[in-house]
Amino acid sequence: FADPAFSEAVIRWQKQYGRHALPWQNTRDAYRVWLSEIMLQQTQVTAVIPYYHKFMVRFPDVQSLAQAPSEDVMAHWAGLGYYTRARNLHRCAQRVVAEYGGIFPDNPTLLEDLPGIGRSTAAAIVGFSYGVKAAILDGNVKRVFARVFGIDGYPGARLIEEPMWRRAVALLPEDGIESYTQGLMDLGATLCTRSKPTCGVCPLAQRCVALATDRVSELPVRKPK
Ligand code: ADE
Repeated sequence: FADPAFSEAVIRWQKQYGRHALPWQNTRDAYRVWLSEIMLQQTQVTAVIPYYHKFMVRFPDVQSLAQAPSEDVMAHWAGLGYYTRARNLHRCAQRVVAEYGGIFPDNPTLLEDLPGIGRSTAAAIVGFSYGVKAAILDGNVKRVFARVFGIDGYPGARLIEEPMWRRAVALLPEDGIESYTQGLMDLGATLCTRSKPTCGVCPLAQRCVALATDRVSELPVRKPK
């Protein structure tokens, strides 16, 4: 499934049309990257931004977060939802300080062992913070892949998800992992949306199986009841 033209199209689009001024971009501080990725797991960018700023003021580094009382962390998270993320955030900060001297590892497998960090989040953190090549596959990217490659079947199912991960790995660019990862996220969030995709301006339109077969509105397949 290797195809350098795929990542080249994503990277070129990201540089011209992607998002470049989000508060957690233009930094290689793994603490900021990690905090933003945890907040963005189940919450949209516009809702995350004010919380991200509040956290950076009160907990400017991983040590200050690790040392804070739980109630203080929970109080700053209040309103963002999915509160398990806040418990895991605090425990993760404590482990990064205790086990790694406050430096987030650049190895995605080590990151995945920490609370609240799954495979896709680990890959985003090492890519944005350290330029390490690793594949993401979050809900937005699953939608892009299901459409571009015409993948039938619910992407939450193991049988669909495992080959999608293999594709995601095979498509990684030699260089420019930051732009590529951000480009996939931005394509999914801004063009290849669930209900009103704007295929007319999509850099992947010429290669999109769903568009060619008029199945954009049918893919990805919804969760079976
Ligand atoms: N969603 C998850 N990670 C993101 C990021 N870095 N930028 C924008 N949206 C995201």
